[in-house]
Parts: sequence; C-alpha cells; structure tokens
Amino acid sequence: VEKLDSLLKGRVALVTGGSRNLGAEIVERLVKAGARVALTYLSQSAAAQDLQTRLETNESILRAYPSDLCAASISHLATRVREDFGPVDILVHNAGPYSSTRFLDLAEQEWDCIMNTNLKAAYLLAREFGPGMKAGGWGRIVFLGAVSAYRAESGVYGLAKSSLAWLCRSLATELAPQVTVNIVEPGQVEESVPELEQDEPGLAERLLRLTPLARFATRSEIASLIIALCSPPYDSVTGIRLPVDGGASINPLPA
Ligand SMILES: NC(=O)c1ccc[n+]([C@@H]2O[C@H](COP(=O)([O-])OP(=O)(O)OC[C@H]3O[C@@H](n4cnc5c(N)ncnc54)[C@H](OP(=O)(O)O)[C@@H]3O)[C@@H](O)[C@H]2O)c1
Repeated sequence: VEKLDSLLKGRVALVTGGSRNLGAEIVERLVKAGARVALTYLSQSAAAQDLQTRLETNESILRAYPSDLCAASISHLATRVREDFGPVDILVHNAGPYSSTRFLDLAEQEWDCIMNTNLKAAYLLAREFGPGMKAGGWGRIVFLGAVSAYRAESGVYGLAKSSLAWLCRSLATELAPQVTVNIVEPGQVEESVPELEQDEPGLAERLLRLTPLARFATRSEIASLIIALCSPPYDSVTGIRLPVDGGASINPLPA
C-alpha cells in the first residue's frame, strides 16, 4: 500500500463528509498518499480542525468546507473548491446519512434529506467535476454505497444506495475512458457498531451470525480499498460494486 500511496502525489481530492469517522480515515489516507484534499462537513467544524491538527497539515494541503448536501448549492461548493485547489482529480462521495424509518412512517422531509445527500449530491458532484477530469485526461470517482442496497427492508436509505450503484454504472460509461467510477459498499462498519446498538439493539449480533468471515470490516480496510481504486492496479476497473462486508451480502438478512 505504501508504494501505491506515493502515486497520488500532486492529485487534488474532494471527500464529502470527510471530517470524522470513515470520511476522516479516507482523508488521512489521501493526505498520506500525497494528495491535496478538500473535505466537506455538515456543521461540526471542530472535528475538521482536529483532523487538520492531527495530520499536521496547513490549508494548502487540507481545507474544510461546511456544506449541507441535503440542501446546499453544489455549484457554489464546487466553485470555492476550484478557486482554492484548481481542478479536482479524485472525488469520494462519502457523506451518506442513514435512516431506518419504514416507508409508511417516513416524512417527506426525511425522504428528501436521505435522497438528496446520498444520491442527488453524487449526480451533481459528478456533473460538476467529471467533465474537468475527462478534459484533464485522468480522474477517479468513488461513491460510498452500503450493502443495505441489497435488502428490501432498508427503506429510503437502501433505495438511495441501490440507485447510487445504478448512477455509478451510467457515469462509468459517460466518463470513460479517462475517468473510472466505482462504488464501495460497506456492510456494518466495525467502529460504528455502538451507534447501531443504540438505534437497533441486537441487529449487529444478527448481522454477524450471517457474515461468513464472522467479523465486520474496519474503517481502515475500507479506506485502503478506496485508495487502491485510485491507483494503477485498478486502472481497468470501472462501473463495479464492491461489497466490503465479510460476505454478508451473499445471503442478505431476511426481512
Ligand atoms: N457506518 C456504517 O456502518 C456504514 C455502513 C454502510 C455504509 N456506510 C456508508 O459509509 C459512509 C460513511 O459512513 P459513516 O458512518 O462514517 O458516516 P457518518 O458518521 O454519518 O458521517 C459523518 C460525516 O458526514 C457529514 N454529514 C452528515 N450529514 C451530512 C449532510 N447532510 N451534508 C453533508 N455532510 C454531512 C458529517 O458532518 P458533521 O460532522 O458536521 O456532522 C461528517 O463529516 C456513508 O455514505 C454511509 O452511508 C456506513
């Protein structure tokens, strides 16, 4: 991984929801790989500042932009990022809020927020940055999906993530041959188990029983795969869904 990492030197990356959790891990790996990184967050600027301090970077290498992708103007964000960094080479759309509300109980506002952040923002960001990557001769787009996309029980979140896989395949053809577009689909992330336990007690244990590798993937493992997708060994891989779930999607959890 170290050898592959140095190959991102000089690249500019944008990571949505990059201030904490999985997004922060992705940002850290990109910075260590030599990329200059713009990250977005919703409202908690302290997490972004902590990351900057931890990575010992300055604003020419890592800069954070507050942006509510549920409602924000993506073109405004894109203009600011381009002004500060120039053309973006790598887009990782990681912001993707979760919802477990059943459709019959779902408020329209929640539908809009989940769909806008997970799905519509992906299309708007790709429309903003994809043509520049193509014109520049190289680009990498990675969407964060979820194996919830394989479960009918997963509500509007699953709907957004399965549509994201469709968008990924379409964009992969539209942006070829200069740009690859792939979707990484985590199962339950190991570090997020405590959060899941609060929301849906007992679900993590059920999921684990149905996971052939008998463990959840870590943030570090998922971030490694994303970095690899931006590196030469994956240059001919585009339009694919990559579940990172210990095999849980082989036999999805029954409803
Ligand atoms: N965690 C899991 O087990 C799991 C499983 C499968 C798939 N995934 C997917 O993996 C990705 C990362 O998951 P995660 O659990 O690490 O994410 P997370 O903790 O929910 O993400 C936090 C980041 O997203 C930002 N954010 C939240 N809502 C936003 C909005 N409306 N607009 C813009 N930014 C927003 C947060 O900003 P603030 O700090 O300001 O709030 C923060 O930077 C997501 O796409 C998720 O769907 C996660």
